[in-house]
Amino acid sequence: MQLTLTRPDDWHLHVRAADALRAVVPYTARCFRRAIIMPNLEIPVATVKQARAYRDEVLAAVPRGIDFEPLMTLYLTEKTTPEQIEKALRSGIVKAVKLYPAGATTNSASGVVRIEQTFPTLECMAAHGLPLLVHGEVTDANVDVFDRESAFIDRVLARLVERFPQLPIVLEHVTTEDGVEFVKSGSGRVAATITPHHLLYNRNAIFEGGLRPHFYCLPVLKRERHRNALVDAATGGDPRFFLGTDSAPHPRSRKESGCGCAGIFSAHAAMPLYAEVFEEAGALDRLEAFASFNGPAFYGLPRNDDTITLVREPWSVPESYPLGTEHVVPLRAGAEVRWQLTCEVADKR
Ligand code: NCD
Ligand code: ZN
Repeated sequence: MQLTLTRPDDWHLHVRAADALRAVVPYTARCFRRAIIMPNLEIPVATVKQARAYRDEVLAAVPRGIDFEPLMTLYLTEKTTPEQIEKALRSGIVKAVKLYPAGATTNSASGVVRIEQTFPTLECMAAHGLPLLVHGEVTDANVDVFDRESAFIDRVLARLVERFPQLPIVLEHVTTEDGVEFVKSGSGRVAATITPHHLLYNRNAIFEGGLRPHFYCLPVLKRERHRNALVDAATGGDPRFFLGTDSAPHPRSRKESGCGCAGIFSAHAAMPLYAEVFEEAGALDRLEAFASFNGPAFYGLPRNDDTITLVREPWSVPESYPLGTEHVVPLRAGAEVRWQLTCEVADKR
């Protein structure tokens, strides 16, 4: 069985920097035409100047003959000004601004503590329709890690939407039924990205026969009930849900550790993994909208005019891939993925 789709985009991607960046960018560029590049480097990408330099670094890692466009984001801090937003808009390369609650995830220390501090900047973004991408988790130590997304929706997101109804907001890597319901409730201009791992696995994966650091990401995997809600949202045809892998490579040594970091690498098999989910749900005919139409519509960008082809032929994922001087253990390492890309390069125009 074969499936030819308009070439998709990845609306949430981490590519890191330097050697690691050069190792992972080709996996994405061979499949996706564009990707929203997350700004949470060790030194956050907080200015247009930094975004421009980072974009150049990504472009330099794209294999020859492949058309790939990195869509840059700025890291929102309490110091980000409306003037910086205006500058970002003029640059033409910045497509969104990312909100990390301080301490919520990898390299989020420079993120936001007092959300009110960002209101003048959000006001400016709302006026221009520049999307705010949110890592939707509270960080209070007294909120259970599995409840942090729903607490964020109640305490922060609902308020933001009420105050800035015109602001396009993406609840990134939505993981709960609560998040899905919030998006569907349709207040404001809220959409959500969904990762392959949150569609394929529930939280049991983290503990199956032992502690499995390669299934640890943030927001953490949730109960089966939530996974089902995500599958329904992704495959249900609602244009407010679209593809964002959150592929987040970390060296094996940083994952297999006494304090392993959060992030799952999926760029090597992203579309094949989503195809498994849609096939399982009997909704392969809706994969194209989720992967290739809904995202551009939300961002006000054109659909891609080339295609990719997936074929239903199982292949075995390697135990690891090189990541600079180290290795990354990918999602499904050492196991099978049911679909693969046949035509990786964008030569079908
Ligand atoms: C991401 C990373 O490693 O940069 N980690 C993750 O678990 N998803 C950051 C993020 O998106 O939270
Ligand atoms: Zn992410």
